[in-house]
Amino acid sequence: MGSNRGSKTELNPEAMPRHIAIIMDGNGRWAKKRGLSRSMGHREGSRILKKIVEECYNLGIRYLTVFAFSCENWSRPREEVDQLFKLMMEYLKNSEKELRGKPVRIRVIGDRSGLPEELVSEICRVEKNTEHIEGLDLIIAINYGGRQDILNACRTLLDDYKNGRISESGITLDSLSDRLWTAGIPDPDLLIRTSGEIRFSNFLLWQCAYCELYFTDTLWPDFRKKHLHDAIAHYQRRERRFGGL
Ligand code: FPP
Repeated sequence: MGSNRGSKTELNPEAMPRHIAIIMDGNGRWAKKRGLSRSMGHREGSRILKKIVEECYNLGIRYLTVFAFSCENWSRPREEVDQLFKLMMEYLKNSEKELRGKPVRIRVIGDRSGLPEELVSEICRVEKNTEHIEGLDLIIAINYGGRQDILNACRTLLDDYKNGRISESGITLDSLSDRLWTAGIPDPDLLIRTSGEIRFSNFLLWQCAYCELYFTDTLWPDFRKKHLHDAIAHYQRRERRFGGL
């Protein structure tokens, strides 16, 4: 898949990452530099996300996972948290229209308990409306934490073991993977983090075991198609060995 979606000459269309994950960092600093509120930075970040989703689709990327709100982000001022949820609502509400017929399926991973009720129902609506779509899967991580994901999967495994749905020998890497919020989604091939921070911040810890990492100083609201292409070109130069020789 992918070579027929307007691939760029400098990139090898046959070696596209199947799954890209992005930590969209730097919205606050972008806003501060301009004397704007942090929320304006998130708004611009949301606008850029739409452009990057379109470009991922154009490039033939099959899965794009973005970190929109971490389990730790609750410690931000209430006003900022509310603004973020408002932006997510707007994004989900407008997504189908704004994607202008591009086949994008939207999925949300993370802990939905604690999220505003209207956001949860909007998530359910968009997921249901787009579940049949095959093109690009946009996976939005909301109230997500990698450690929480693994803990939750362990609890589900334990429950399945206690209830006889799985035997002791059935507890494997695959059976744990199947109980993560990302069940059924292949692991990311490339993780991009913007804004110069070089850490995982509790994002997809299990899933990124063999992921190629790409860090850029560019702040998320300044991230453009060419930055995405640079990250993919970097990925294409890497030799992935998955622990082998
Ligand atoms: C990190 O930047 C970014 C976030 C915590 C939120 C990311 C959200 C968006 C890009 C927009 C909303 C999402 C959707 C799906 C519509 P930061 O605020 O930590 O920036 P800083 O490190 O410069 O302060």
